[in-house]
Amino acid sequence: MSESGPYPLEPTPDEMRVMLQQVTDRIVDHIASVGDQPASYETDGRAIARDFAEPAPAEGTDFAGLLDRIFDDAVPHSFNTAGPGYLAYIPGGGVFPSAVADLIANAINRYVGVWVAAPALVQLELNVIQWFCEAVGYGAGSGGVLTSGGSLSNLTAIVAARRERFGDDFSRGVIYTSDQAHHSVRKSAVLAGFAEAAVRQIETNAHQEIRIDRLEAAMAEDRAAGRIPFLIVGNAGTTNTGAVDDLTALADLADRESLWFHVDGAYGGFFALTERGKAVMAGLERADSITLDPHKGLFLPYGTGALLVRDEGSLRRAHATFADYMPAMQNDAEFVDFCDLSAELSRDFRGLRIWLPVKLFGLSAFRESLDEKLDLARWAAEQIRKIPEVEIVTEPRLSLVSFRMRGEEGDDATRALLDAINARQNVYVTGTMVDGRFVIRICVLSFRTHMDRMDMCVNDIRGALSEVLSAR
Ligand SMILES: Cc1ncc(COP(=O)(O)O)c(C=O)c1O
Repeated sequence: MSESGPYPLEPTPDEMRVMLQQVTDRIVDHIASVGDQPASYETDGRAIARDFAEPAPAEGTDFAGLLDRIFDDAVPHSFNTAGPGYLAYIPGGGVFPSAVADLIANAINRYVGVWVAAPALVQLELNVIQWFCEAVGYGAGSGGVLTSGGSLSNLTAIVAARRERFGDDFSRGVIYTSDQAHHSVRKSAVLAGFAEAAVRQIETNAHQEIRIDRLEAAMAEDRAAGRIPFLIVGNAGTTNTGAVDDLTALADLADRESLWFHVDGAYGGFFALTERGKAVMAGLERADSITLDPHKGLFLPYGTGALLVRDEGSLRRAHATFADYMPAMQNDAEFVDFCDLSAELSRDFRGLRIWLPVKLFGLSAFRESLDEKLDLARWAAEQIRKIPEVEIVTEPRLSLVSFRMRGEEGDDATRALLDAINARQNVYVTGTMVDGRFVIRICVLSFRTHMDRMDMCVNDIRGALSEVLSAR
């Protein structure tokens, strides 16, 4: 590396260029080969983690050696969450310009928690939120915040709903969701101060959608017992099976009963950009608040969530506070101090990570990719249906399909099939329980997953099935 300056924490311009060039080479090589890298890893996780445990270094180390340690020694021992074969859980993304945006955001390190510190940069983030509001069908007065992910969005929504409906005493409040809701809903309710028993997990129908009749009955029972129903959390794409609740019926019920209506669209919400997704999620725009996860449905890197609210004032009333040492906050509805709408004050400039790729590619590129995911999941379901030894358990509402082995030993055989599919390392899929039975889920949501990989996936299912059957 070229000559160093007097302050080691301040690399010289030449040193910075060299660092960036070295890292650029590593990143580009990594991304160019991401589709060829194994979908998961076979190392003993504990051994590799122990190998990485280390004392704090008193002295510095050579940069190139550190890059080797990251890229050569650590990264290969992980799920290839950014690869085309990652069909597990809810796949992540990581479009490249977001990584560039993070580099810019961290290099400039401007402060976006308060408006006055960086009005133009705050506006870029506000633009993103307004684009999202339009995408879900929200109108004037709506707003929101970017969060670190769906869990924090759900927590923020529950806090806002609680504040709007109760003020300080919420001890009799009851929250309703389905038995398929993401566990972050229950966790958020407890973090927001509710007893676990205050979260009713209502039974679902044969399509894993909340049963409205059971929901109404539970509310009536709670009211009769002196409790106060105040919040319904609907699902726009469950993690388990991709089920979408009847959002119109939930919105009607919330209206009739004067309840806050939150929709968890962490997985499914961005499908509202597509015509088919919009139809499946009809009623979404009637929610008081909506969780969206750009790090899922908009293919962005982890750590990028969003909470939208129909009335921005609701977030403000729940979070705004003041202190003598703070700058003046914006009263003008056109502008926003993000710290007034969220629990966070100092935070990363996460808006740039969304703004840059959306401006660069246009929303249509994201829409087309989401449409492709809907097609791929349907195609996979059709192919799996042709395999006599397995049965589809849940059809794709969005981009998630689940299946299992037929027959008596279904669960054990399905687990064996799952292991045999993953052992091939072309795709990585995970399992779950549906109606008490073990199923394999395929969730298509990576922008890098195309027909060639789905074809590989179906071939691997067939190959793995032959192995499992011949081992009997
Ligand atoms: C439906 C749903 N809600 C909430 C979450 C939590 O999101 P995050 O992992 O971003 O905190 C997830 C995560 O998979 C999800 O699928």
